[in-house]
Amino acid sequence: METVTTTQDDVSTLEVRAATLEDILGVLEVEGSGYDFPWSEGVFNDCFKDNYIFLVLCHQGHIVGYSVLSDIVGEAHLLNICIHKAHQGKGLGKYLLNAAIKAALSKGCDSILLEVRVSNQTAKLMYESFGFSMIGCRKNYYPAKEGREDALMYQLLLSDFLVDETV
Ligand SMILES: CC(C)(COP(=O)(O)OP(=O)(O)OC[C@H]1O[C@@H](n2cnc3c(N)ncnc32)[C@H](O)[C@@H]1OP(=O)(O)O)[C@@H](O)C(=O)NCCC(=O)NCCS
Repeated sequence: METVTTTQDDVSTLEVRAATLEDILGVLEVEGSGYDFPWSEGVFNDCFKDNYIFLVLCHQGHIVGYSVLSDIVGEAHLLNICIHKAHQGKGLGKYLLNAAIKAALSKGCDSILLEVRVSNQTAKLMYESFGFSMIGCRKNYYPAKEGREDALMYQLLLSDFLVDETV
């Protein structure tokens, strides 16, 4: 797979847009590369409901990531964000998260809540760098290779968030 980075030159090759049903195969490929316990096609099909914000990140027309937020009376819940394994660690996660937060703001949401595996250091650092605060723990929330794993709950108050308009 071709390399993608988020230097100023390459940002012009990136596009974030609303997902369509035709994107599902590309989304499933990203999902399969990113998780040991991937969401099924049926779960993604449910993400086209009115109260969902389902975005795909494309590089030269190819899907390299996606995010899914639900919006329940002004409180957004980040249900999933994933960058294809071949493109991780190059700034694309931050690029997409910024776009997802902007989308939640434009829907009038006040806050974003999410759960993350205790072991997912990369995601925790990314959320913390955006100003998310840890607000709790859900015991045994996720399936794991051996038994279950706790989820940490993070929240971002959007009144505190400074949108990066350059991406
Ligand atoms: C979590 C995820 C979306 C981040 O996307 P990414 O493109 O890899 O991350 P970025 O390159 O934008 O980096 C974002 C931040 O993550 C952290 N990070 C990135 N790679 C890291 C690594 N190898 N080790 C530790 N931290 C890392 C850094 O804090 C980084 O910010 P910085 O570059 O300013 O220091 C991506 O790794 C992924 O899809 N993982 C699998 C699915 C997943 O875990 N989703 C989150 C579920 S809650």
